[in-house]
Amino acid sequence: VVIEAVEGVLEDYARRGVAAFADWHAQRSRLRAKLAGLIGAPAESIGLTSNTTAGVIDIALCLNWRRGDRIVLFEGEFPANVTPWQQAARRHGLEIVFLPLGPYLSQPARALENLEDTLRAGARLVAVSAVQFQTGLRMPLDEIGAACQRHGAELFVDAIQACGAVPIDVRTASIDYLSCGGHKWLMGVEGTGLLYVAPDRIEALQPEVAGWLSHEDPVGFLLRGPGHLRYDRPVRKRTDFIEGGAYNALGLAALEAAVELITGLGVEAIFAHVQAYLDRLESGLVERGFRSQRSALDAGRSCILSVDPPGHDDAPRWVDALAARGISCSSPDGLLRFAPHWPNADDEVALVLEAIDAGLLSE
Ligand SMILES: Cc1ncc(COP(=O)(O)O)c(C=O)c1O
Repeated sequence: VVIEAVEGVLEDYARRGVAAFADWHAQRSRLRAKLAGLIGAPAESIGLTSNTTAGVIDIALCLNWRRGDRIVLFEGEFPANVTPWQQAARRHGLEIVFLPLGPYLSQPARALENLEDTLRAGARLVAVSAVQFQTGLRMPLDEIGAACQRHGAELFVDAIQACGAVPIDVRTASIDYLSCGGHKWLMGVEGTGLLYVAPDRIEALQPEVAGWLSHEDPVGFLLRGPGHLRYDRPVRKRTDFIEGGAYNALGLAALEAAVELITGLGVEAIFAHVQAYLDRLESGLVERGFRSQRSALDAGRSCILSVDPPGHDDAPRWVDALAARGISCSSPDGLLRFAPHWPNADDEVALVLEAIDAGLLSE
């Protein structure tokens, strides 16, 4: 459906030329509503982005920082959720505090106490991934959100390793901002994404990233004759003010098709399907001497299974060996990571384990 959607846009532009623009511009509102449905948000709280990083940068630029504000980050996070905060810290004189991620896997209650102590000492924002990219650890977002609320901190979530396969709800987790690229678990293509801003946070954002399409009635001067070209129209007080210019229409059509499919299957059902797949894969890999990084607690599990190979530094070699047998996985931060989704059938597990056996024999 993604391929058909992309071809559909190309064919439409080929046939109608610029006349196709208005329809594909309007597609953005349809897509925002569909993305909103995936995370329990109202449609007007969603803006479209070009990747996860773009959403982090938007918030890092638009927050009304006060000198000395503290930002809480995590040691081991994917850098997309670190660099823009470091740049904001440099520009505005902010302080960054790194907390360790390890305790969230081994002693989550202790980890949350540590966070609570840090927040008690004062923090403006906590930025965290919903699911950690290397271990697949699903963070206790509801508890982190509640702690932020108790201490007046804002919560920013990078959801690219969750959204589309792991249930996530911005309301139950009291999330203020959420950014997610469209090319991982949403199964769109690269160059698209979404940013959520909680309705009660939009007013305080400064429009530092506004462009020509950020105003109220931004395209009237192109469609409705003379007299509509003005520069004093207000910038929208909605998250889509971040959509300042022309966008990747092909990518957004791809994303809509992918999200429709995911919504049709249901994220809960996808999650359950992947857990059954990973249960079997995990036990097979552990039997063969791989050390699983998967949380012992259901609440800490995502759709990622990462393992430490028997020869500790060998993950990239395993990625190549498995790729040669048509099995696609990756080696983030030295772990061997499997990330199956709805198209991956249960009977693949036996094939993966056979490939592992062949690799172990050839060692
Ligand atoms: C947690 C996390 N955030 C962000 C990204 C990527 O960010 P972007 O969509 O900006 O390329 C990745 C992986 O590519 C990731 O694992």
